Amino acid sequence: MKFFLDTADVDAIRELNDLGMVDGVTTNPSLILKAGRNIEEVTREICEMVQGPVSAEVVAESAADMIREGRHLAQIAPNIAIKVPLTWDGLKACRVFADEGRMVNVTLCFSPAQAILAAKAGATFISPFVGRLDDIGLDGVDLIADIREIYDNYGYETQILAASIRSVNHIIEVGKIGADVITAPPAVIKSMAKHVLTDKGLEQFTADWAKTGQKIGG
Ligand code: E4P
Repeated sequence: MKFFLDTADVDAIRELNDLGMVDGVTTNPSLILKAGRNIEEVTREICEMVQGPVSAEVVAESAADMIREGRHLAQIAPNIAIKVPLTWDGLKACRVFADEGRMVNVTLCFSPAQAILAAKAGATFISPFVGRLDDIGLDGVDLIADIREIYDNYGYETQILAASIRSVNHIIEVGKIGADVITAPPAVIKSMAKHVLTDKGLEQFTADWAKTGQKIGG
């Protein structure tokens, strides 16, 4: 399973990247706002740090303007994946970028039908939003399962990038289905290390060790 970090926070990316856990990064306009940085400056910094794909999102609504913005963002670094929304214009821009040999991440996917269109338009990644479907009482994990089944039926090469991941359980469930990539906030990735029995076991070992009166290495 590939891990992308869903953030534009360079310090948080650096910490996990130094551990070799980061296969890529996804950003969006809300994450750029949260970082409080200039989009080109922060995206360049992330691209220099991380070897894998770094998604940078266009904000235009027409295909022509998305293509202009996407080409501009792609100049930042060779590992930019241009992120376009799953609208008809976004699909048109996706086809143009794919034909130019650029990586494209089609975002804001909420249905299997949308995911089929993204694959047909040559998307490198499709980003189905798991958490936002859960937010409205639907099952985001089911969407990943549906897309996996359809893509496998037809051998589509578009990678399923499970997005809007909010919990460790989301990561495990989409991993069981076979999502190619998950993108999650750094805090969610770090919380994968937590287990109540690990904490309890460590507490016991620490207490017992103190009773031995020993020291390791001196
Ligand atoms: C990633 O590409 C998406 O922009 C992101 O995962 C959305 O997550 P959210 O629903 O938690 O904002």
